[in-house]
Amino acid sequence: MKIAVIGSNMIDLLTQISRMPEQGETIEGLSFDMGFGGKGANQAVAMARLGADVLMLTRVGDDVFGRSVRENFEQLGMDTRYVLTAPGVSNGVAPIFVDPTANNRIVIVKGANNHLTPKDVDDAAVDLKKCDLIVLQLEVPLETVYHAIAWGAEHGVPVILNPAPAAELDFEAIKSVDFFVPNETELSLIAKMPVNSVDEARSAARALVERGIRNVIVTLGSKGALLVTEKGDELFPPFTVTPVDTTGAGDAFIGSFSYYYLKTGDLAVAMTTANRYAALSTTKPGTQKSFIAREEFEEKGS
Ligand code: RIB
Repeated sequence: MKIAVIGSNMIDLLTQISRMPEQGETIEGLSFDMGFGGKGANQAVAMARLGADVLMLTRVGDDVFGRSVRENFEQLGMDTRYVLTAPGVSNGVAPIFVDPTANNRIVIVKGANNHLTPKDVDDAAVDLKKCDLIVLQLEVPLETVYHAIAWGAEHGVPVILNPAPAAELDFEAIKSVDFFVPNETELSLIAKMPVNSVDEARSAARALVERGIRNVIVTLGSKGALLVTEKGDELFPPFTVTPVDTTGAGDAFIGSFSYYYLKTGDLAVAMTTANRYAALSTTKPGTQKSFIAREEFEEKGS
C-alpha cells in the first residue's frame, strides 16, 4: 500500500504548564521539549510507523529545522523525493502549551508550509498516480488543497480531507473527497450548524452527506468517533486511557485510520483501530514521539 500525504510539517516547541498566564503575567513552565510535528507530517509518520509506504509532499524551511525534518522522514523510510525546500524561508514552527488536564493550546507559524503550490502537486503527478490514497489537511495554502482534491477526483485516487485547523471552506471544492474527517469545531464551521453534542454532530454530518460528501467521520475526543455515510451512522466508542497530552491525537487517528482502512477494506475495523491508536498516543507526551510502531500497537491488543 502506498499513501501520499500532501501537507505540512512543523517543529513543535512543547511546554508543559500548570496554568495559562494572564495578560502581562510571567509564569514558570514545568518542562520543555522539542519534537517533530505539523498535522501532515504527524499523519504521515503514524502511517509509516504502522508499516505504510508513505510519499510525503511538503515544503521544509531553508534552515536547521528544515534539514532535521527531512532527516526524520528519511530515518522513517518515507519517500522524500517530494520533500521540497522553500529557498530563504524558515521552517514551520508550533509553540504548544499543555496543561495538567492534558489539553493543549497551539500557535502555528506556517513558514515554508505557505509555499507548497498547486504546481508542486502537478510535478509529483507521475508518483501520485501510483498511490492508493491522498491525505490532506489545512496547514498549507487552500488553493493547493483544492487542487489536490480535484487532482485526486480526476485521476481516480481516493482522498481524505482533515479540515484542520478550522477554516471557512468552499463546499463545491471539497465535496468530491471520499472521507471528510473534522472534529466538532471544524464540522460546525463547514455545516454552519451547532455541534455541542453527539446528536448535533450526527445532524451536521448528515447534512454534509445529503449535500454530496460520501463519508463523514467526526472525531469526538473522549466521546469516540462518529461515522456517517449514505447508508447510516455509527458511533464508535472511545478506548479508555488516562491521558497526559492529547496533542496530535487527531493526527494519530487519521494516520492509523488510513493505514487500517487500506489494509482491511473494512470501515468498522479501521474506525475501532484508529480510536485505540489515537487514545494510546495521548498516554505519552509529544506528538510524533507518542505514535507507536505496529509491533508494539498490536502487542498491546484491543
Ligand atoms: O495536530 C497537532 C499539530 O498541530 C502539532 O504537531 C502542531 O505542529 C500543529 O500543526
